[in-house]
Amino acid sequence: MEMFIYKFIITIRIKMNKSKLFKTIISFSIAILAGSVMAEEPIILKFSHVVKPTTPKGLGALYFAKKAEELTKGKVKVEVYPNSTLFKDGDELNALKSNKVQMLAPSMAKFGELGIQEFEIFDLPFLFKDTSKLHNLTTGEMGKVLFKKLEPKGYIGLAYWDNGFKSFSSNYKLISPKDFKGKTFRIQDSNILNQQMTLLGGRAFSMKFSEVYTALKTGVIDGTENPISNLYAQKMHEVQKYLTISEHGYLGYSVIVNKDYWEKLPKDIRGQLELAMKDTTEYVNKIAQDKNNADFEAIKKIGKIKITYLSDKEKAVYRKEFQPIYDNMESKYGASYMDAIYKSVE
Ligand code: LMR
Repeated sequence: MEMFIYKFIITIRIKMNKSKLFKTIISFSIAILAGSVMAEEPIILKFSHVVKPTTPKGLGALYFAKKAEELTKGKVKVEVYPNSTLFKDGDELNALKSNKVQMLAPSMAKFGELGIQEFEIFDLPFLFKDTSKLHNLTTGEMGKVLFKKLEPKGYIGLAYWDNGFKSFSSNYKLISPKDFKGKTFRIQDSNILNQQMTLLGGRAFSMKFSEVYTALKTGVIDGTENPISNLYAQKMHEVQKYLTISEHGYLGYSVIVNKDYWEKLPKDIRGQLELAMKDTTEYVNKIAQDKNNADFEAIKKIGKIKITYLSDKEKAVYRKEFQPIYDNMESKYGASYMDAIYKSVE
């Protein structure tokens, strides 16, 4: 660098008078200094989410932060904001759009509010036997098609992360659909989940995740549905009397980024972040079920909430109640589209 500066001075000396030369040297030195300071400044990536750090998504966000910093050799610093501390759901998609945060992982139930209805497939009750069947969709053509739909809205989809299957909790014992009659249940803001609750005869109350614990505690709502990891992490088992292991629907996430931010990243950095995300996705989808199982054991050990299991026969009654949801989907998307989905998750 010194040699370069020396040569530079010699070259321009020939062309300039002394005062001009002095000014040039000063500005050149400032530029070099500023450049070296800037080169050391990491790129900040804010990752906001609404659950506790101990849940599958929370653990995934932390894992990604570590991996991203490792692979970019500190050139990217990922700041993780868990548990709705920066943005609540309902606000976070707007915050991503305006680049106040750069990465989110909303549950797929929440993409309807963007006007992208097709993500609602993931909310269909009793569609998936297990997550491996569901991965046929997310890792196949459909996963890509859904992500393409995000781009005109200013987002890029990077990965699909599992949480797990939801069960109902309430202050009333829930065995058959008639037990839901007249009770109020919190749902995520999803058309399918709204239909599901209405068909059961319950009142669907769409509410931000951060408000659910207090609403349950104060009796504003009677119950809700969650994967066990969310129920446990938010301590909902302390404010609900009954948990019915129904595993009637899936809850998982799409990891998305602000499109402009992502495309303006230097190519090598973006590649390293994509690698970090690939690794993180394998990690999350490997630990999600174990985490839900471990949390279930913890809830049983605490012993506060009474746990009941739906038998296959009892589940069949719910399936029948939910048939109109499938009929509606068929008239919306067409029989061949729905058949292709059923086939790929068989
Ligand atoms: C919910 O609102 O119940 C979930 O989407 C929360 C989450 O992100 O897991």
